[in-house]
Amino acid sequence: MIRAKILGVGRYLPEKRVTNFDLAKMFNTSDEWIRQRTGIVERRYAEEGVYCSDLAREAAREALKSAGMKAEDLDFIIFATLSPDHHFPGSGCYLQAKMGLTEIGCLDIRNQCSGFLYSLAVADAFVRMGMYKRILVVGAEIHSSGLSFTDEGRDVAVIFGDGAGAVIVGPSDDPSRGILSTHLHADGRYADILRLEMFDISRKPYLTHQTIDEGRIWPKMQGKEVFKVAVTKIPEVIEEALQANGLKIGDVDLFLPHQANLRINQFAAARLEVPEEKFYSNIQRYGNTTAASIPIALSEVLEQGILKEDHLLMMVAFGSGFTWGASVIRW
Ligand code: UT7
Repeated sequence: MIRAKILGVGRYLPEKRVTNFDLAKMFNTSDEWIRQRTGIVERRYAEEGVYCSDLAREAAREALKSAGMKAEDLDFIIFATLSPDHHFPGSGCYLQAKMGLTEIGCLDIRNQCSGFLYSLAVADAFVRMGMYKRILVVGAEIHSSGLSFTDEGRDVAVIFGDGAGAVIVGPSDDPSRGILSTHLHADGRYADILRLEMFDISRKPYLTHQTIDEGRIWPKMQGKEVFKVAVTKIPEVIEEALQANGLKIGDVDLFLPHQANLRINQFAAARLEVPEEKFYSNIQRYGNTTAASIPIALSEVLEQGILKEDHLLMMVAFGSGFTWGASVIRW
């Protein structure tokens, strides 16, 4: 049996740091409010003129280096983002060209905060069926161009940050190691609760001055509803993933949750009766980087020696759609 594993990991965060105090100069908010409700202290913003595929290229470069591979060794690209370079074509195509590659297939995945886990599941399936052997999976976001830095947009603006994380997925030489299983879910009844409706294809044309005047170019979120469902679904999908592998919660060495809100992850840890230290968090430094948050965190826990060989790793995400999922890896 072929099992897929992660062969290399990389991350890239833009240099520009934006603190809560910086945001408080632009609209009515405070460091205290943001820290208390979300845990966030600062986030990174890409400079003007930088594309999502540029951040992805940097993370991909680092992932290739850590896998001891060259770009030419890749045979497929999967790109998860909700902030693509352009509405179409997919950012995977832009990234491919920027990496100096041609011909290999590129797939964009549009599953928001769960985008990385959905992408990983596709890569895992491709590798296990023998279709590809060296897949680049990247999650990258530039939120800073799409946030309303006003009192109306403040609930969303304070949460999100820019960044990219990447992994290389390929066959494992040890069938007991690698991605054990991934569990994906969605509930489209909640699709409007967190969305950007700027591209409304039912309107002719889909974008007008009115779209801008009505503020439809900014994401809208019913935060409390997201929070409520997230703290239920995260423990649920973790339990599902454990059960599928005959594992117990105590078997997990490290949880890498999507970084949406520190309070959500603290709630989930408490519900599962897992010590908070086992739930890695870096939201304090980067905010919510959506599809990039899990691979960024993965690259940090490897660098810091927190994740070690043979560890059982549980990655979990929840976000817009709603979409959610969990992936269990024997490292
Ligand atoms: O990746 C998935 C994406 N999203 C999430 O996971 C988000 C999940 N939800 C959340 O994280 C929380 O709902 C938020 C952090 C977004 C908001 O926290 P909350 O405790 O649900 O606050 P709220 O929206 O109920 O607002 C409470 C008050 C309101 O004022 P009033 O009506 O009580 O006077 C808001 O207007 O806080 C106000 N408020 C703010 N105040 C200062 C909302 N945003 C801000 C802000 N700064 N940035």
